[in-house]
Amino acid sequence: MSLQDLTPADLQSILKFSVDLARKAGEVILQGSEAIRSLSSQSGVGEKKNSVDLVTEYDVKVEELVGREIKATYPDFGFVGEESYSAGVRPTLTDAPTFCVDPIDGTTNFVHGFPFVCISIGLIYKRRPVLGVVYNPFIDHLYTGIKGQGSYLTRGGSLAQPQRLPLTSSAKPLPSLNGALVAVEWGSDRSEAAIATKSSSFARLAGNPEQNVVGGRMVHSLRSMGSAALNFSFVAQGALDIYWEIGCWAWDVCAGIVIAEEAGGLVTGSRDAFLASCKDGTFGDVTEDILTGRKYVVVRSIADTPNESCKEAQKRIINELYDTIQEVEPN
Ligand code: IPD
Repeated sequence: MSLQDLTPADLQSILKFSVDLARKAGEVILQGSEAIRSLSSQSGVGEKKNSVDLVTEYDVKVEELVGREIKATYPDFGFVGEESYSAGVRPTLTDAPTFCVDPIDGTTNFVHGFPFVCISIGLIYKRRPVLGVVYNPFIDHLYTGIKGQGSYLTRGGSLAQPQRLPLTSSAKPLPSLNGALVAVEWGSDRSEAAIATKSSSFARLAGNPEQNVVGGRMVHSLRSMGSAALNFSFVAQGALDIYWEIGCWAWDVCAGIVIAEEAGGLVTGSRDAFLASCKDGTFGDVTEDILTGRKYVVVRSIADTPNESCKEAQKRIINELYDTIQEVEPN
């Protein structure tokens, strides 16, 4: 396999490897969940930045397993993982293929036994996400995607037939945010400034402008499921219309970006990155700056109309979102 030119067939074989690895990691995640359930205290749970930024020995165990297997099979590939990054291993991105892994995305859910937890294995090549595997072992949902080759959901074991994403037979319209199901997350920055700004953004998204919520969009509802990778996958599936978050990291989103894009979704970054991309014609290109920028918006595929293409509609929805919310700086 030449590092200079990964072919579609190379990506297929990396996908197969990543799916097998994700399923193996899924078994460890389920064992870990059993073990945590049987603990009488929170003794297996550690804190990173503060008491809501959690890590368990299983995050580390799963990352070690994944890192080991990647090294044995793809010794020349780079590796960025949440836990090794936290421990100080911070490689700079190059053009070489680089795995970007969150061993347990949804650690808070994992600790509480809330079954929205996954392993997220992404591959970055020439500084763009090109392959993604997101596997939730609790409900056995496997999302996969390869740049240019579509994305799929496989439910019910490795012998089940993968279903092409989005699951909707054709893209639905989205006339405004008002009709949208929107995912947002609280994140781990609980300072007064961050919480006040985020909650007022959430209030404007949800609030009724006809009942005194100034700037209110009255979206259908807000969801906070606690896993960035699964949020991207739900947008790909068509179950969520839009997901907006500030504060997550490349390993939370890398795999999900490919899965969402391959289902016709559009991914962008901060308001500034979005506006700049509209000006310079790169709207929809997830550059290294967007991938590592810690501010993300993803919108599902939207039906073309005679007056508006899917991409124009996605741009309109993102504009509407950025007119409604206020950004905070990730810490
Ligand atoms: C977190 C989850 C959460 C998101 C945070 C992420 P982790 O990842 O994806 O939904 O709100 O920004 O850091 O810590 O569970 O791997």
